[in-house]
Amino acid sequence: MVMLVLALHLLLGCGQDPCPDGSMLDGEQGLVVTAAEHGGAYGVADCDACHARVTLHRTGCTPDVDLEAIQDMVDADGLESCSVCHGDNGVESP
Ligand code: HEC
Ligand code: HEC
Repeated sequence: MVMLVLALHLLLGCGQDPCPDGSMLDGEQGLVVTAAEHGGAYGVADCDACHARVTLHRTGCTPDVDLEAIQDMVDADGLESCSVCHGDNGVESP
């Protein structure tokens, strides 16, 4: 077991830092996506077009975030859920 943990450490250690920018919470407005962070995607309502849901919220850069709870929420509420945590992405509410 100890050897396995060590081996994993070595493997990961040689790779790239998965969180070069640190936690999203350190950003300008935390989880809320801003125009500056989102480029041409700001104002686009269809998040699915670029963010495949099955890949979202699998790894995080913020300690103690319950990724499974987020996945459950996204599974339950789909696109509707995104704005609860990430803001409206510049999309006018209906
Ligand atoms: C046209 C493609 C596109 C669409 C549509 C899009 N995004 Fe993004 N999004 C991106 C790209 C590319 C990045 C990576 C930007 C970067 O980190 O440099 C990103 C990054 C993000 C991030 C991480 C920001 C950060 O600070 O690291 C969040 C959260 C996000 N998008 C949420 C959403 C939500 C919510 C929607 C729908 C309202 C959406 N995106 C629609 C392309 C898109
Ligand atoms: C319950 C809150 C919550 C909901 C709902 C939510 N997110 Fe997130 N999202 C987060 C958190 C927290 C992170 C950052 C995890 C970390 O620290 O890296 C994140 C990270 C992201 C990222 C960065 C890449 C990644 O996979 O971590 C993208 C892109 C993103 N969310 C898009 C979306 C989209 C699109 C939706 C709707 C389908 C959505 N989120 C719904 C909380 C949420």
